[in-house]
Amino acid sequence: MEAVAQEIAERLRAAPFVKVVTHIDTDGITGGAIASEALARAGIEHEIAFAKHLDEAGLTAVKREGHPLVWFVDLGAGMLHAMHGLDAVITDHHVPTEREVPKALRGDLLKFAESADRVLMLNPHLEGSGSDVASGAGCAYAVAKALDPKNADLAAVAVVGAVGDMQEAEFRRLEGYNRTILADGEAAGVLKAEMDLRLFGRETRPAYKMLQYASDPWIPRLSGNEEACIAFLLELGIDLKVGEHWRSWSDLDRGEKQRVVSALVTHMLERGCGVKSVERLVGEAYTLVKEPVGSPTRDAKEFGTLMNACGRYDEPEVGYRVCRGDRDEELAKALRLLRGHRAYLVESMETILESGIREMGAIQYFHAHDKIRDTVVGIAASMALNQNGTPKSLPIIAFANAEDGIKVSGRGTRELVAKGLDLAAVMQAASKAVGGQGGGHHVAAGATIPPGTEQAFLEIADRMVREQLHARGPSADAGEDAAGAARPSP
Ligand code: C5P
Ligand code: ZN
Repeated sequence: MEAVAQEIAERLRAAPFVKVVTHIDTDGITGGAIASEALARAGIEHEIAFAKHLDEAGLTAVKREGHPLVWFVDLGAGMLHAMHGLDAVITDHHVPTEREVPKALRGDLLKFAESADRVLMLNPHLEGSGSDVASGAGCAYAVAKALDPKNADLAAVAVVGAVGDMQEAEFRRLEGYNRTILADGEAAGVLKAEMDLRLFGRETRPAYKMLQYASDPWIPRLSGNEEACIAFLLELGIDLKVGEHWRSWSDLDRGEKQRVVSALVTHMLERGCGVKSVERLVGEAYTLVKEPVGSPTRDAKEFGTLMNACGRYDEPEVGYRVCRGDRDEELAKALRLLRGHRAYLVESMETILESGIREMGAIQYFHAHDKIRDTVVGIAASMALNQNGTPKSLPIIAFANAEDGIKVSGRGTRELVAKGLDLAAVMQAASKAVGGQGGGHHVAAGATIPPGTEQAFLEIADRMVREQLHARGPSADAGEDAAGAARPSP
């Protein structure tokens, strides 16, 4: 990847002007900020734009703008087949499409080779790795580092992108090229990695709240139960408050943390949790050590969630400016967006409760219509699946109206994936069958389908999930408890 990064850096250095086009999710926002910061430091003139996704129309519009060079961040791989006629560099971690010979160039393969040359892509898939070894931000970081090794301080924001994209979730630590980024950041004195509780809110939430909102893993009797969490910590002799200040997890000293972690392990084991879900309590946590203690930009997970909130409510620029260093007005705006997001999620849960979740043989589903926006329905689906009272044996499928059709989000649990569930395959095949498109990961996938095809989509999805879960027979993991969905809610 570093060799490709060098080539891309040379192309960028030679450009009189660069248009950066990036995705609106966490690793897109952070990746765009890394690209822009590196270009600014190199004295390369540029501007940045944000896109929800890149389709034919979007690409045509970019082509018409006639820039000397376009840098696509966290998108572009899926449109590789349609890049002809454009001078572009791509830093993306999504699965690339095959390059076809465009009609206009058919019969003139030499010309096609020339036009293919005009597009350079850095993508872990080209090196035989998967999407989780680097995020869109990590791929942009590789180029920033090739532009100037001094850009190693940007590793901090790159790790926020990786964590915001849930890349540490599966192995409870970053892997692949992400580890190179992490090592760069530690050497540059901007990052620290340590084993810690994996729960959300280490810096900014009162410690008991952090336990209360635990969803990966789900902690029996504590998750969702404020009083029980307060009592649990008090029994261990942990002071919850110093004066008026609620102590956060990061305020606890090492001894206190150890007491809580071992008590949590015992608590979960005694309540029948399987070893696999108990193990998920602890993992590598990443701290941006130059950020003030207790601030929402100090913990990579919290910083990532903040960026997510900006992107989902059409304000990616706000997150971008925070990544570029604004800790004043823009950070305040980002925090307002995050508070708004939390309130929106509470409302969304009420909406789902009212409309109800329907069960089919192998799946459960709800339709949010206009009540939940398409950028949030996926989180709402995982929260609904995580809630007490929702069966964990059926993956959940959620629909919401979107500009370009009906947005579908599917969410499962780690246990179901261990038994054969592959929601990416379900979303891909079922959406294709009804004239839409989709994909994603085994445990979390999405699609967009034409309005009115929901029922047909559900029937195909239900049949496919049943086949997936029955194909392997009883799982070796049968004794595992039904822990929460793998994509925890922020
Ligand atoms: O949108 P949602 O959060 O449900 O997406 C879950 C996963 O599915 C993401 O990784 C996303 O990239 C993928 N997805 C996809 N095609 C779509 C929608 C989502 O590959 N049309
Ligand atoms: Zn991404």
